Amino acid sequence: MAEKPQRIVLTGFMGVGKSTVARILSYRLGLEWIDLDRFIVENEKREIAEIIEQDGEERFRDIENENLSQILSAKSAQIISLGGGAWIFERNREIIKENECLTVWLNAPFDFCWKNIFFSKQNRPLAKDKTKALRLFENRGKYYCLADWHFVVRNEQTLNDVAEQIAEEIF
Ligand code: S3P
Repeated sequence: MAEKPQRIVLTGFMGVGKSTVARILSYRLGLEWIDLDRFIVENEKREIAEIIEQDGEERFRDIENENLSQILSAKSAQIISLGGGAWIFERNREIIKENECLTVWLNAPFDFCWKNIFFSKQNRPLAKDKTKALRLFENRGKYYCLADWHFVVRNEQTLNDVAEQIAEEIF
């Protein structure tokens, strides 16, 4: 990639490893990183699962959009990891584009994501069972495809390998 992009936004399905890759990239490149879901949890003083279960997904999406907007207008973070649903909504894609970010889709097979979802301690109300998660995965492909850069994550790759490869190709 010829020109160094201003900011990198990582998107992709739940369990693909967006936050981990962003953390490694931030450490390796010395760039500030903000994780959208963590930012929301700090602002709302509630876990994401609690917000969705108590207020509903629609309200969560509004909160997600407001918080993304705040992160983007603050301009401090050079690496932003999104929650898996954020990129699906046009209003979020629009503000990301307005802020001239390079969006990277971590594109892994469903089984890779599901294994991480299944073994993770994180409560993900929108992926309570495999059938539900697979349906979401299949419906979302067309939106993730709209990202600027598609990075194919192979089953045998570690998240460290993924971050290393992204760092080499982008910077
Ligand atoms: C969601 C993904 C989650 C979190 C919320 C909704 C989604 O983030 O934002 O549970 O709709 O895909 P992760 O992708 O980090 O699991």
